[in-house]
Amino acid sequence: MDKILVANWKMNPVKEGEVIKLAKASDQKNVVICPPFIYLKSISKLLRKAKLGAQDAGWSESGPFTGGVSAPMLKNFKVEYVILGHSERRLKFNETDEMIAEKVKSALTAGLKVILCVGEPAAIRKQGTAAAKKYIAAQLKKDLSKIGNLKLGIGNLLIAYEPIWAISTSRDQSLKETPEIILEMINFIKNNLKSLFINHKSSVLYGGSVTSKNIKRIINHEEISGALVGGASLNSKEFSKIIKLTYARK
Ligand code: PGA
Repeated sequence: MDKILVANWKMNPVKEGEVIKLAKASDQKNVVICPPFIYLKSISKLLRKAKLGAQDAGWSESGPFTGGVSAPMLKNFKVEYVILGHSERRLKFNETDEMIAEKVKSALTAGLKVILCVGEPAAIRKQGTAAAKKYIAAQLKKDLSKIGNLKLGIGNLLIAYEPIWAISTSRDQSLKETPEIILEMINFIKNNLKSLFINHKSSVLYGGSVTSKNIKRIINHEEISGALVGGASLNSKEFSKIIKLTYARK
């Protein structure tokens, strides 16, 4: 299966001119561009090869949710993917696993492909691998607790393993994301999903300080389906390098 690269622009860039330039430079096959909501429409008009994604979606179809954007609204806007449960939304917007579970259900029901982010904080990783696995297993169980009957949607579920301590803006300098740690956690997530959804062949991505310097060491593993790129996706030259290195593998 082709690897995918997800560009998570977060709350950037500020100027629309930069948005257009960056989107054009990132418009490649197997790339998913996730800009802030307000840019979705203008970017959807110019993309030829890349897919469009959003960084969040509400859990309800419509209603009294000031500031909210729902999954069916995104679907009507040619959005194919949505990132849910990013650690920044969990920590800075106080999103709970219960809210995320409802969002996952709503997005899958609307026909969106969900990129569900899970990842342990530094304090848990410092307790060791077993503690990190326990933390991730609990997140998966809770975040996926509402989709048991939604057999149709499961094929549209992707997981991104994003240890909070490895994200460029919340790095813990005393910890290092080695390919061994990443691989072990991704295999753990895959086995965990198999036990939750029998025979589910899941795509699991890695995210956290992915750059042109480490992409090859990550992407070359069969088990890793792609990467979620934050900071490095905002620099068009750097992101183009990452794209080249990803697809010039074989
Ligand atoms: P980063 O962000 O690549 O800047 O570490 C990744 C993310 O938070 O999705």
